[in-house]
Parts: sequence; C-alpha cells; structure tokens
Amino acid sequence: MTNDATTSARAAFHARRVPLAYTLNGAQVECEVEARTLLVHHLREDRNLTGTHVGCDTSQCGACAVHVDGNAVKSCTLLAVQVDGSEVTTIEGIGGDCPDGLHPVQDTLRRKHGLQCGFCTPGIVMTAIDILDSQQPLTTEEVQHSLIGNICRCTGYQNIVDAIVELSESKGACSHE
Ligand code: FES
Ligand code: FES
Repeated sequence: MTNDATTSARAAFHARRVPLAYTLNGAQVECEVEARTLLVHHLREDRNLTGTHVGCDTSQCGACAVHVDGNAVKSCTLLAVQVDGSEVTTIEGIGGDCPDGLHPVQDTLRRKHGLQCGFCTPGIVMTAIDILDSQQPLTTEEVQHSLIGNICRCTGYQNIVDAIVELSESKGACSHE
C-alpha cells in the first residue's frame, strides 16, 4: 500500500460513524458520531450545548470541563465514543432545582465577583463542584491546587478561590446536579 493509500485508509477509519449511547443532563442520548469526534465538539455542535467552551483544544485551560460519571474532565481530551454508557453533565445540567436556576457554586461566584468575562466560568464551576463533592471544608491552598488546570485571564483568581472556600464552609441546600 502506498503512503497516500495508507493515509486515506486511516482517515476513513477515523471518520467512520459509530453508535453512541449515554445519559446527558439526565436524558438518554442515542446517536452516531464520527469516531474521531472529540466530546467537546459533540456537545457543542451535535447537542447544541455551547456552555461548554473551547479555550485551547490542548488540555491547558479547563474551559471545556464537564462531568463524566461525577468526575470533572476536560472534554477536549476525550473522544465522544469514550462516554458510551456513561453519565455526562454539562453546565446546562446543573442548578435546575435551585433558586434562579443557579447552582450554589454559580450563585457564590456571582455574589463574590468571581467572574468577569465569564469565558472560563463554566469550566471553573464544573471543576469546583467536583472539588466540593470530594472534600469539605477546603483551605485556600487546597482550592488553588485543585484549580491548577483552569485558566482565568481576567480575575486574578482570588475571588474565585474565596468563593469556593466560603462555599466549602457552608454547603448550599439544593442538589448539585
Ligand atoms: Fe479543553 Fe482548553 S479547551 S482544556
Ligand atoms: Fe474571563 Fe475568567 S472571567 S477568563
């Protein structure tokens, strides 16, 4: 096989459509995706859930964080087919039973001025929920360490960290997801 033929065969293999079934924000999804589709692109382009942002596409910024089976993951680092059989939650899937539809993390970030342009915020929120689910209360240093994979270009981080620490000391009443 020539190099060109090998390249074409490989491209066709990655572009083949494969079945995908999983739970998205509490609803069952059954569809087909190209095998090469990243989860973040599937969510944004196939499911129209554009609250999950693409900041870098290289696993640096955390703007694309979602929950897969309760754990925060960067959705630009997963193929869509890798969530087959899993439960996926995006920023659109949280806070539905909370006042104003805002999850306590969102409400506390708003109150503590933990966002400016908001581009990083969905990823920060999804990461913070995971942090808060695994340990409470949290120190400033623990929150700073846990947010190491989330880049914010506006706030300087202090208000974000303060909001999560405050929330860890008085957990909100409505359910997380
Ligand atoms: Fe996924 Fe930046 S877009 S980490
Ligand atoms: Fe603008 Fe974080 S609020 S990037």
